[in-house]
Amino acid sequence: MRIALVGALSVAILCGSFAHAADVAAGKEKAELCTGCHGEAGISQIENIPSLAGQPDLFTQWQLVFFRSGSRKNEQMQPIVEQISNEDIRNLGAYFASLAPPKASKPDDNPDLSRKGAEAAAGRRCASCHTDTYVGTKAVAGLAGQREEYLVKALHDYKSGQRSGGAGAAMAEVAYPLSEEEITALAHYLAHL
Ligand code: HEC
Ligand code: HEC
Repeated sequence: MRIALVGALSVAILCGSFAHAADVAAGKEKAELCTGCHGEAGISQIENIPSLAGQPDLFTQWQLVFFRSGSRKNEQMQPIVEQISNEDIRNLGAYFASLAPPKASKPDDNPDLSRKGAEAAAGRRCASCHTDTYVGTKAVAGLAGQREEYLVKALHDYKSGQRSGGAGAAMAEVAYPLSEEEITALAHYLAHL
């Protein structure tokens, strides 16, 4: 019941985005609220806080809707989403999508682990949803260059059920059978793309 309600509400909000053009400049202004944690130009320098730069518009919008509805829980994001309107969500989605995605900031210190991660990603068909370059599309997150420890955290959150995510909880199903070794390798590989 709760999921059905959240779904209906979210569809209403996101459909609105086609009726009104999103305003990137207004999104940039609103994003001043986000910089302290998510970094300048959406590139996070803080452990366990994801970079937002270059994320697909709809992915960012959905996550904000999930935080606001309580279906995704985080103590730091909770007070933020209480301060933003549907219009802000549309503008923020457009603004972060307009920024250059993160680049792997450090050279790969463990190419062996990356090779294992690439094999796991191929075996688990991660690219079939996340795209061949892992930049994401629509409601599917970009993963390339994301912070390594955050990728580990996100996979653990799906695996434990702490986070169910959209798209019919596709990620919960993907993450459930992953071993710790695979999670470590996948995160290392994706963070260094
Ligand atoms: C006080 C710190 C803080 C502030 C300020 C903040 N965030 Fe966050 N945000 C976080 C943390 C921590 C997470 C990771 C939550 C988790 O692990 O599930 C997050 C996650 C997110 C996500 C999910 C990204 C993903 O890859 O899954 C989005 C989208 C997001 N924040 C948008 C925003 C926007 C937009 C603003 C400003 C309007 C903002 N945040 C302000 C701490 C913050
Ligand atoms: C069936 C499609 C599908 C497949 C296959 C898939 N994903 Fe996802 N993934 C998604 C969707 C949709 C989301 C956004 C979910 C949400 O709303 O939380 C996502 C989100 C994620 C996130 C969270 C990113 C963030 O910024 O919060 C990570 C990490 C991730 N996927 C890793 C993987 C890995 C690693 C694989 C392969 C083992 C994989 N995914 C396979 C659809 C998929």
